[in-house]
Amino acid sequence: MEPSKEFLYKHKGFYLLPDLTNPEYIDSLEHFVVRDSDVFVVTFPKSGTVWMQNILSLIYYEGLRDGTAKTETIDRVPWLEYNFNKMNYESRPSPRLFSSHLPLFFILQVIYVARNPKDVAVSYFHFSKHASIFEKVPDFNILMERFLSGKVLASSWFDHVKGWYTHRADYNILFLTYEEMKKDLRSAVLKVCDFLGKQLTEKELDVVVEKAVFDNMKSDPRSNYEDKTCILEKGRDNFLRRGTVGDWKNIMTVAQNEKFNKVFNENMKDLPFKFIWDL
Ligand code: A3P
Repeated sequence: MEPSKEFLYKHKGFYLLPDLTNPEYIDSLEHFVVRDSDVFVVTFPKSGTVWMQNILSLIYYEGLRDGTAKTETIDRVPWLEYNFNKMNYESRPSPRLFSSHLPLFFILQVIYVARNPKDVAVSYFHFSKHASIFEKVPDFNILMERFLSGKVLASSWFDHVKGWYTHRADYNILFLTYEEMKKDLRSAVLKVCDFLGKQLTEKELDVVVEKAVFDNMKSDPRSNYEDKTCILEKGRDNFLRRGTVGDWKNIMTVAQNEKFNKVFNENMKDLPFKFIWDL
């Protein structure tokens, strides 16, 4: 079953959201003037984008810039390819923070967050039930088939992660995983600070970590797209759902898991990277 054209369209072989961007805008990004101080959070959807958006904006802005305390995370770290609020990115003060689901395409300061693909697929499935931007997929089997064949937003998870992983040692890329953030958030935040050349005091670090733990973010309206009905249907669940490693076990059947493993092994056999499937 192909994804509905109402929700996804292909531009240069890559799936994007139709209502929020268009081919001309995507092509114009080739001329986007990147500043040395720009920082990009890049992920495959449902891999912890909002988590890293929050961490970054806490490291940079929280309490330091007037007004940001009330600003939603998505507006502090807006999407490069989906300019929801028609912001003028050129007039944003440096350092500008952006998010993106795009594949590797130009030189930037990038924090890439990868998450094990079973949890990504399951998170995508649940999200699609109450996201106004996603097509509702009636059962997980259909979603899984689409996910494994790259017919979802941002196309193939395998290509996305492999593309960025190949560049993990580049000086301008920090490659992190959702699972390592979950295991030891403080160490992950320290890695981000090191990468960005930011020196936080122990106390400041405590605040970032505290504000970025799941329960605190789940109860923070700014992290949950509460007012963004263009993303989340009004009155539906929080954007933050469960926030665990291994949730796939609650939904995938033995047969689905075997199929998933088979496709995963075929696609990832050359990648010397061990994903963590459970914590
Ligand atoms: P689940 O659906 O498994 O709960 P994205 O922002 O890329 O769309 O990713 C969303 C996923 O990241 C959701 O996963 C969400 O709950 C999880 N997430 C967001 N903030 C988190 C946090 N502070 N700790 C753990 N998981 C978090």
